[in-house]
Amino acid sequence: MKYSYQNLFNLNPTAKTFLDLGCGQGFVSLYACARGLQVDAVDIEKVTPLAIQDLKTVNYISADLNSWQPAHKYDIIVAHHSLQFLSKEYALNEFIPKLCASLNQGGLLEIFSFTSEEELDVPTKYALEEILAALEINLEVIKQEVFSYEDLHKKLGKHAFHELHVIARKKV
Ligand SMILES: C[S@@+](CC[C@H](N)C(=O)[O-])C[C@H]1O[C@@H](n2cnc3c(N)ncnc32)[C@H](O)[C@@H]1O
Repeated sequence: MKYSYQNLFNLNPTAKTFLDLGCGQGFVSLYACARGLQVDAVDIEKVTPLAIQDLKTVNYISADLNSWQPAHKYDIIVAHHSLQFLSKEYALNEFIPKLCASLNQGGLLEIFSFTSEEELDVPTKYALEEILAALEINLEVIKQEVFSYEDLHKKLGKHAFHELHVIARKKV
């Protein structure tokens, strides 16, 4: 799948604040920082990822998304393969609605996650419809898709991935 961070950020070119949930190595946060956004990057890992260490406008928060919640609002929020670590009940009924409420007007929420067709052993897989139903009514879905592609998995080798992708915007 061809994906570039640029497409998302171009949908909200005046964005000033960014939240990266389950930031991993911090590459989206690094990109947001380079575009001049103030970044909060959250991950359960204790150590700040190398890519975002020492960046004045990136605040790394070591926390468990099962209990951490945004304390203020953002212009862009991403959850790239991090909802899979939450229980489905919590993610759909509490966490995603909280993310919706934590968007500024015109703000964007982007989610990537695995669908039930995915054979990787991850704690929680979602149907596109479940994610869409969890979004608040004052969000407009501007992209929704399920897609599959073959790529190399670091342990399994060649693997068919099955994912969903949603971008929603808080109505102005
Ligand atoms: C599959 S990686 C995705 C990383 C990055 N978002 C990306 O798309 O490349 C999942 C990340 O979520 C983090 N993670 C797992 N469980 C978590 C939890 N309960 N709270 C916060 N982060 C968690 C992991 O440490 C890991 O960095």
